[in-house]
Amino acid sequence: MTIGVPREVHPGERRVAATPDSVKELLKLGYQVVVETGAGLEASFSDDDYRAAGAAIVDAASLWASVDVVVKVRPPQVHPSLGVEEAALLKKHATLIGFVWPAQQMPMLERLAQRGATVLAMDCVPRISRAQKLDALSSMANMAGYRAVIEAAHAFGRPFAGQITAAGKIPPARVLVIGAGVAGLAAIGAARSLGAVVRAFDTRPVVRQQIESLGAEFLTVEIEEDGSGSGGYAKEMSPAFIEAEMRLFAEQAREVDIIITTALIPGKPAPKLLEAGTVALMRAGSVVVDLAAEQGGNCVLTVPGESVRREGVTIIGYTDLPSRMAAQASQLYGTNVRHLLSELTPGKDGQLVVNMDDEMIRGATVLHQGAVTWPPPPLTVAVPQQQAPAEVPVPAETAPPRSRTGTTLMALALAAAALLGLGAVAPPAFMAHFTVFVLAIFVGYQVVWNVTAALHTPLMSVTNAISGIIVVGALVQLGKPSLLTAVIAGCAVLVATINIAGGFLVTQRMLKMFQRD
Ligand code: NAI
Repeated sequence: MTIGVPREVHPGERRVAATPDSVKELLKLGYQVVVETGAGLEASFSDDDYRAAGAAIVDAASLWASVDVVVKVRPPQVHPSLGVEEAALLKKHATLIGFVWPAQQMPMLERLAQRGATVLAMDCVPRISRAQKLDALSSMANMAGYRAVIEAAHAFGRPFAGQITAAGKIPPARVLVIGAGVAGLAAIGAARSLGAVVRAFDTRPVVRQQIESLGAEFLTVEIEEDGSGSGGYAKEMSPAFIEAEMRLFAEQAREVDIIITTALIPGKPAPKLLEAGTVALMRAGSVVVDLAAEQGGNCVLTVPGESVRREGVTIIGYTDLPSRMAAQASQLYGTNVRHLLSELTPGKDGQLVVNMDDEMIRGATVLHQGAVTWPPPPLTVAVPQQQAPAEVPVPAETAPPRSRTGTTLMALALAAAALLGLGAVAPPAFMAHFTVFVLAIFVGYQVVWNVTAALHTPLMSVTNAISGIIVVGALVQLGKPSLLTAVIAGCAVLVATINIAGGFLVTQRMLKMFQRD
């Protein structure tokens, strides 16, 4: 089968659905790949790059007429130079993969259905662990969160990091992030790394730890209500909660310089959280970046797709934030698409198989051989999320628990008896050393056993120090006349040295994982 990568025709869209790197991977799946001339230019990938990766370069008309699978970023729309709807250009019974937004694009889906098409929507991939590598919504939201901070920094008249200079003091920028999903967390990380003081709010208390681990402060409201819904998404909050959070934002507006809003519940219009009065409370020169602009915006003053100035505050409602970093966004999106195609090609033979029994594929398939299959049935895979502890049913009759205390006491008694027996025959010097040895094993075991896995690297440094002491002790013993003592001391030096060297090597490898190039 042949996969086609057309040039995106949506005004201002710079991304492309496959990059030279992802083309190489698609070829390995057994497909042939054709790319429309100039498709990757705005994302910095030339036709020659695609040719070098193994793709053929063709014009738009011949691409749409010939390929079995089209991979796109934006939903099909009228092709400006061909003057026809892209849906009408798709070959009969072909497959289309891209962002589709079926709830808003039903008429287009129906036109595709008439052509017997199969459509997989990247925006409908379920948020389950297995599907993370194809989660294009998350990879694009991650880019959008970062870019939101960069746009805010561009519009804001001060550096983010505080400075004390000979010419005066610059206070750090204060940033409030509303909604700590993928985009919100990326925005927190980016704002923190630029040196801003960051606060964040979300209706799901489970994100508190993530917010705090990024170095931001988690804001709360008086009302207790958990916004965690099903499928890893949030649920709609009560009007009382929304009112309480709006009061919180009005208080915060007096203090912060930048507000980045990302609050959204899938399938619902964005909740209005920033009123005109709240924006008016911000200092002149402040910035609001509204990521939910496309869904109506979290701020009432947002104009989708534009940056406007109201009451001295810049309100940015760009809806193309990932496209503003087209090369990286295309690389991530291309990888997401390639992973989906890899799932759809079990034989790695260039033959696409849409397995509707696979929950992940089923979720993403909105049109199957001309039949609308959206919305999908609810997921049966449990999405891991933290919930309030459920009531544990108490069994009517419980079997008496097996006493572990009795077994432990018995073992201790046996050990004491063995020690006494040994003490009766062994020399006193041996007993003193032996007791220390046994206690050392006991304490060492308890210490290691009770340390959480995350702390094993620092623990390794401690064991390195202990091994160092062993080496010193063994070196002292090496000088003793007894051959047996010298052999045991030699072994101790060898084993402890292996432990020290190994510890340093492993620690260095782990530290490298956190180093930036
Ligand atoms: P997400 O679903 O992961 O996160 C949304 C967060 O908002 C969730 O943590 C949720 O708990 C929170 N939330 C919902 N209602 C809230 C409320 N009333 N108050 C406070 N928090 C609330 O979504 P993701 O992937 O992070 O995307 C965020 C937004 O960014 C979406 O609106 C998405 O469409 C938009 N986006 C915008 C782009 C652009 O170019 N402007 C590009 C990519 C995404």
